Amino acid sequence: MEVAKNVLLSEHTTLKVGGVADYMVEVKDESELMEALRFAKQTAMPPLVLGGGSNILASDEGCRGLVIKNRIKGVEYNVHGDNVYVSCGAGEMLDKVIEETVNKNYWGLENLSHIPGTVGATPVQNVGAYGVEVCSLITEVSAINIETEQKNIFSNEECKFSYRDSYFKTNEGKKWIVTKVVFKLSLLKSPKLSYGALQDLEKNKSLTIQDIRNEVIRIRSTKFPDWNNIGTAGSFFKNPIIPNKQFADLLIKYPDLPGYSVDSENTKIALGWVLDNVCSLKGYCENGVCLFKQQALVLINESAKDSATIDDFANFVTEKVKEKIGVDIEREVTKI
Ligand code: EPU
Repeated sequence: MEVAKNVLLSEHTTLKVGGVADYMVEVKDESELMEALRFAKQTAMPPLVLGGGSNILASDEGCRGLVIKNRIKGVEYNVHGDNVYVSCGAGEMLDKVIEETVNKNYWGLENLSHIPGTVGATPVQNVGAYGVEVCSLITEVSAINIETEQKNIFSNEECKFSYRDSYFKTNEGKKWIVTKVVFKLSLLKSPKLSYGALQDLEKNKSLTIQDIRNEVIRIRSTKFPDWNNIGTAGSFFKNPIIPNKQFADLLIKYPDLPGYSVDSENTKIALGWVLDNVCSLKGYCENGVCLFKQQALVLINESAKDSATIDDFANFVTEKVKEKIGVDIEREVTKI
């Protein structure tokens, strides 16, 4: 295990900002992770864990302790009846796993094609796209406790999944580092086409899993910038969940505002639509930070060199939404 010193976090996060981390290490298996945790104890600072760095706003102050890059690999397939249980090391890139499961005709993950980041991040923020959330596929999550080094296997229920949220985002949950995730996929053809732009595929009677992956990749290419060239973290904010009454009031003024029922009392509204049609912020830029011209919920960092500039821009957007529609919004991106 090699510990690097004075590493720039801007080179390890897709928003391309962040100061110096005093120490950084890549761990390839559980024993290296245990070794890293012991090293972190010597720094007297809790370690920070990075997967793909694709949902992180790293501070300009950097990190005085150890940053652990989770690179725990390995994918195993276990078939039981009509299902296959895919057990993945947390450091696997999610899309590499999806490419493989699509090639094998294992149904379940295809709607999540081309989402950047690692498998280990998926249960933490209950990653979702195009009508599928990982909480509908995850059967268990293995994790190691930073403080006690205890290992645990969390059942789906224990993960306490909700929209872009889980137990692993709570103060207690943050003490666990995910090492492995098991997804339950299906050997039987089971397309999920509830998302508007995918519904057309229903007409295709000989639809394959590869067709769905291709269509999702095509849609994503129209809504996201090229992650290799432009700083971004995908959706920067969560879609707000508001009481039905407040949604009904907003519909009077904005009849086209898209809303999705969450439960009997609450509705999730499309913040991208609000930023675009109510706040007129689609494509708006300040100090090198913009809301993407093809999808207003996607923040892009064109040329800002520091985290504070992005922070200020995000606060400005938050205030604008509050002023225009009276709704408090939350970030999806985690600040470290
Ligand atoms: N819209 C606009 N203008 C915009 C952006 C969106 O009018 O600039 C409208 C769209 O036309 C649509 C609605 O708003 O009617 C929702 O937009 P979209 O379907 O693109 O999805 P989203 O709600 O903005 C969410 C996820 C994405 C995921 C997509 C597709 C969140 C925070 N984001 O975005 O996930 O890819 O749905 O399922 O829930 C992510 O979490 O990082 C992420 C990219």
